[in-house]
Amino acid sequence: MKNEKVVKAALLGLGTVGSGVYKLTCRQADEMERKTGAKLEIKKILVHNMQKKREGVDPSLLTDCWDEIIQDEEIQIVIEVMGGIEPARTRILEALNAGKHVITANKDLVAEYGRELLDAAEKHGVDFLFEAAVAGGIPIIRPLKQCLAANEIDEVIGIVNGTTNYILTKMFEEGMDFEEALAKATELGYAEADPTADIEGLDAGRKVAIMASIAFHSRVTFSDVYTEGITKISARDIFYAKEFGNVIKLLGTAHNTEEGIEVAVYPMMIAQEHPLASVRDSFNAVFVHGDAVDDVMFYGRGAGEFPTASAVMGDVIDVIRDIQYHCTGRISCTCYRNTPIKSMDEVRNKFFLRMQVENKPGVLAAIASVFGEHKVSISKVIQKIVAEDTAELAIVTDTVKEYHMKDALEHLKKLDTVWDICSVIREY
Ligand code: NAP
Ligand code: HSE
Repeated sequence: MKNEKVVKAALLGLGTVGSGVYKLTCRQADEMERKTGAKLEIKKILVHNMQKKREGVDPSLLTDCWDEIIQDEEIQIVIEVMGGIEPARTRILEALNAGKHVITANKDLVAEYGRELLDAAEKHGVDFLFEAAVAGGIPIIRPLKQCLAANEIDEVIGIVNGTTNYILTKMFEEGMDFEEALAKATELGYAEADPTADIEGLDAGRKVAIMASIAFHSRVTFSDVYTEGITKISARDIFYAKEFGNVIKLLGTAHNTEEGIEVAVYPMMIAQEHPLASVRDSFNAVFVHGDAVDDVMFYGRGAGEFPTASAVMGDVIDVIRDIQYHCTGRISCTCYRNTPIKSMDEVRNKFFLRMQVENKPGVLAAIASVFGEHKVSISKVIQKIVAEDTAELAIVTDTVKEYHMKDALEHLKKLDTVWDICSVIREY
């Protein structure tokens, strides 16, 4: 082992994750030396607001001047937990170009600029690690890049947003409506002040882009991901999910098919027996299928101060070990393929549809005929009379191409007897 006894790092950001990292550094101080052969010293902490009170943090560590970090040759590791694209991107690039190792929890950045950042790291022979960027405390990047490296992975699906999983759990188990469950998620600190990225599936979209890139060895960016959120899920949909033995989960899904990569986020009906169905509250889980390993699932806390800090510190420990053994930059970009992204129209799914129709003879037959015309095969139907002249139809289809379903829905909307297509939810 090399005689490098103190490794110095800078923390960019001291919010939820940064505070957790700082506290864990203090908690692990003695263990760190035993684990890595070197002490870790946080030499500087970059913040935005120098006036803010920071309990338990030595004020002399704080700075709002990036130059104090980038120009300090003693600082070997930069831990970026500020969030956002800029200035995080520029600072990380500057750090990598200066030969510093970088660890980040920033999914927005990795999902969009992962290639640029990994290329810079490779060029300078330094580590660029981002275990916390996908599922907080759950190890998934390292398992995909290392433990499962001998597999041809064809499927990665996951519940990777805690806020929406909490909301859907409350709707399913306690009969809350969407707004009430969202208010509770906000009160508990799961949802952001502006929860758009969570409830519209954008946060999950960034995470699934990162996972797909690594699992399928081909770059997938956030703009490749089709996203739908959970704002339209109603108590009535939950009712039918139960009728059909399902739950509704916001799933990030990625499949490596012969025609290309399918990558999307949408709410899906999933059988109550599937392991992902039992992932409740704000917990996250990722389900992976590989040709050698078969099915594996990773479960835990996808966010929060200490769970996220746990993943960040795991990366820090790895970097220190690499420094000690002179093997930094060992595992960089693993995207050695250039697989096309499949058009969403070509993706195949099963669908659950709920519609309000006129209750009179021949209506069901006309609807079935439209489906038939557009190559949509019906698997199950439930009909409930909701008023004297109105019936509610809940239909589950067999697997169909998305564009066939789109065409069938357009056609159905034109029928006088179809009053409203209330829900269109995919089924796993
Ligand atoms: P946060 O609580 O909002 O904290 C952000 C920190 O960064 C604050 O300390 C802020 O300084 C500092 N900061 C922001 N912009 C800055 C700038 N331009 N210059 C200097 N300092 C700046 O954020 P967070 O929840 O810890 O999240 C940090 C990152 O981790 C994000 O990329 C997020 O996506 C990711 N992440 C978070 C979680 C989670 O559970 N929160 C989980 C996984 C990943 P001030 O304190 O002075 O305002
Ligand atoms: N907002 C995210 C969630 C946490 O609800 O899971 C940070 O990734």
